[in-house]
Amino acid sequence: MTNITVHFVSPDGEKTVTAEASDGDNLLTVAQINDQPLEGTCEGQMACSTCHVIVEAADFAKLPEATEMEEDMLDLAAGARRTSRLACQITLTPELDGLTVHIPAESHNMQGI
Ligand code: FES
Repeated sequence: MTNITVHFVSPDGEKTVTAEASDGDNLLTVAQINDQPLEGTCEGQMACSTCHVIVEAADFAKLPEATEMEEDMLDLAAGARRTSRLACQITLTPELDGLTVHIPAESHNMQGI
């Protein structure tokens, strides 16, 4: 089994959680296993944007392009940037080893206080 390392950076940029994943793992699932605050309300159906992450620019180029539907959902995501992606649409492969993603600050607002 190939081990793929993923880094999750907290919204304030101060804390990085390093996670181990396997080839074919879904980024949202890996984030949730590692206690990252991504709700993923629709469980990968591209009907919410609560799994929004901001990908490190250097890693963004390695990802397959987002589908039009994903782009549409990202338009609705709070705080979306040029390198934003939906974590549920990212399948980890050995090429993505060392992937760094930032958790958007706005993700906390979705927790329904
Ligand atoms: Fe809803 Fe990713 S979990 S769009």
